[in-house]
Amino acid sequence: MAAHKLDTRVIVITGASSGIGQALAECYAKDGIVLGLTGRNQARLQNVVLTCQGKGAHVIWSVLDVTDRQGMAQWLGALDDEYPIDLVIANAGISAGTGGVLIGEDPAQVRHVFDVNLHGVLNTVEPVQERMIARGRGQIALMSSLAGYRGWPGAPAYCGSKAAVKIYGESLRGVLKKTGIRVNVVCPGFVRSRITARNAFPMPFLVEADKAAHIIAKGLKKNKGRIVFPAVSGVMSWFFMVIPDFVAQYLLSFSPDKSVENG
Ligand SMILES: NC(=O)c1ccc[n+]([C@@H]2O[C@H](COP(=O)([O-])OP(=O)(O)OC[C@H]3O[C@@H](n4cnc5c(N)ncnc54)[C@H](OP(=O)(O)O)[C@@H]3O)[C@@H](O)[C@H]2O)c1
Repeated sequence: MAAHKLDTRVIVITGASSGIGQALAECYAKDGIVLGLTGRNQARLQNVVLTCQGKGAHVIWSVLDVTDRQGMAQWLGALDDEYPIDLVIANAGISAGTGGVLIGEDPAQVRHVFDVNLHGVLNTVEPVQERMIARGRGQIALMSSLAGYRGWPGAPAYCGSKAAVKIYGESLRGVLKKTGIRVNVVCPGFVRSRITARNAFPMPFLVEADKAAHIIAKGLKKNKGRIVFPAVSGVMSWFFMVIPDFVAQYLLSFSPDKSVENG
């Protein structure tokens, strides 16, 4: 079945309490739009809700951890019963890194990063996907990263989780195409947010969150399979993906460590 044009009115965004998720919520907020927003920090989420309401959007929000599979399914199901979801953006995510500890990341930290960045995405997508399939329409956006293009030193769990999201989303796009559901994978380079605020190293081609949101919204409207930005970072990541691994490992051995903080 050919994907028909979407009238995107009901939009769910996880991790809307700051950074890219906040910017996306504020970018989409206007009269006639229903936003379903989640995050863990109530005060920050409430501020975003107020801003979006001020722009005319009807906002349904919940302080919810994306690792809470049952809680996510219940909230998304109740929202979808009242307002059938047109677009879900599985954006919530955290970062962590080795911070120069030679033995690598703490095992608990590794599990937590995968829980949030991978299982959190599945907990967001699965309950909505079933309903979209039944309706024969809808759009699912998964937040990956250029960090998912190859294993960069300094943040194995983050890279691994984002690679899994990227590959999962690309496969899902092919599988769901015949159902009329659009699936898009978002692969940003460095974007100014609470995640990158913890990076002590230089971040080339850093993009502001509101600019990132506009690029993502435009890519989703065009139904791009992969939304990659900034372009130069995308090309560099692709280059490191296709060159022989031993050359990449050598070149990347000069790159900085990432903070150990887990947020
Ligand atoms: N910034 C970058 O350079 C960059 C690049 C590529 C990809 N990304 C991805 O973009 C997404 C957004 O990150 P950001 O850069 O905007 O960072 P951010 O400002 O830290 O935002 C992360 C959002 O995710 C939420 N979140 C984290 N853990 C959660 C959990 N367990 N349950 C529910 N919500 C949770 C946070 O909510 P609370 O703060 O309320 O807990 C916050 O709203 C992430 O998936 C990240 O990996 C970022």
